[in-house]
Amino acid sequence: MLFTGKRILVGVSGGIAAYKAAELVRRLVGLGARVKVVMTRSAREFVGPLTFQALTGEKVATAMFGPESEPLEHISLGQEVDAIVLAPATANLIGKLAAGLGDDLLTTIMLAATKPVLLCPAMNVEMWANPVVQQNLARLQGRGITLMEPASGPLACGAVGLGRLPEPDLIVEALARLVSPQDLAGRKVLVTAGPTHEDFDPVRFLTNRSSGKQGYALARVAWRRGAEVTLVSGPSSLAAPYGVNRIMVRSARDMLAAVRERFAEADVLLMAAAVSDYRPTQAEILKIKRGRENMQFHLTQNADILKQVAPKKTGQIVVGFAAETHDLESEARRKMREKHLDLIVANDVNRPDSGFQVDTNEVTIIPREGDPIPLPLLSKEEVADKIMDAVAGLWQARERGSAAGA
Ligand code: CTP
Repeated sequence: MLFTGKRILVGVSGGIAAYKAAELVRRLVGLGARVKVVMTRSAREFVGPLTFQALTGEKVATAMFGPESEPLEHISLGQEVDAIVLAPATANLIGKLAAGLGDDLLTTIMLAATKPVLLCPAMNVEMWANPVVQQNLARLQGRGITLMEPASGPLACGAVGLGRLPEPDLIVEALARLVSPQDLAGRKVLVTAGPTHEDFDPVRFLTNRSSGKQGYALARVAWRRGAEVTLVSGPSSLAAPYGVNRIMVRSARDMLAAVRERFAEADVLLMAAAVSDYRPTQAEILKIKRGRENMQFHLTQNADILKQVAPKKTGQIVVGFAAETHDLESEARRKMREKHLDLIVANDVNRPDSGFQVDTNEVTIIPREGDPIPLPLLSKEEVADKIMDAVAGLWQARERGSAAGA
């Protein structure tokens, strides 16, 4: 699980969004984290410590002094964990952190903390816009704290605008980056995902069964591991992964243009999209009416995106995918040669639990040089991690090669 073996400190301050922190804690525990909650006095006006205690199985820390407090907790808590998330962070907490105050347990923990911090402000829209709050946030960011911008929408005070605590799933994603190895930091990763739609007329199109799940998982995992990620996605109902720059396209021709435009500045291209090989030769402007007994359509072959861009490599690692129903390895190797790939990920799409639409995949990673790596049936996110391991391994080998040659 994403947070197995990770210790997370959740600091809750006193805003109405404190109730959402309970859901955040529940998700983190569900993903394997051991969670310690620290609440400010005003947070306890909104939610009782018992809620968090029940969710985490651990005593909630609330005070510096008194019979309930542990000696030296104000020092140790911010140092023993893997990451700290402050959700919701009120304008008052932000102000105190920026000024370096330590007048309660949470702010004192933060003064002594040595671990990565994710700050999730939630407040009234005018408070958020107040220059003093913005200046405080800038100061905290300058000190290395990661800021998660609030979401926009209806606020508890009746106003509409920026100030909502982001949904717990998004906070979990932002936090995942803080506890993941940053072995792709500074790398620009370009991923394609999903099917393409090739129009016959304004309401009908040619497509395939791809859902985009494997490509989206690659984008998510690459971002968690520190990369700057652009996801070129064909039509898909999946939500844009947090932190990823998503570009929606429709047809194979749109996808080719989007990839071409971004390939030169990318460090790696992962071509996970199931690009339609053909398009109707002519897309009708008006809806095709019924009435004819037989109809024939002419199809024209789409350009092969990999064949167009991969020969222009200037150091990029290019990864292709081969979904096959037979001759898996020989077909994958042929595609690797013909499409100038550094790595190909082959999967057998005959299996019901692997390939299109499902959440699991069984693939073999085949490098240009070296032995194939067959993987067991895994979640698409686990597969994505293994693919990114192979990509990171190629980079390391190249860097070693250029260091030895220097
Ligand atoms: N691909 C591409 N452009 C296309 C078709 C496919 O870049 N027009 C990419 C896919 O994104 C994938 C790889 O090529 O990474 C292999 O795709 P696949 O559909 O398996 O191969 P095809 O070359 O289309 O061969 P075939 O359909 O005949 O198996």
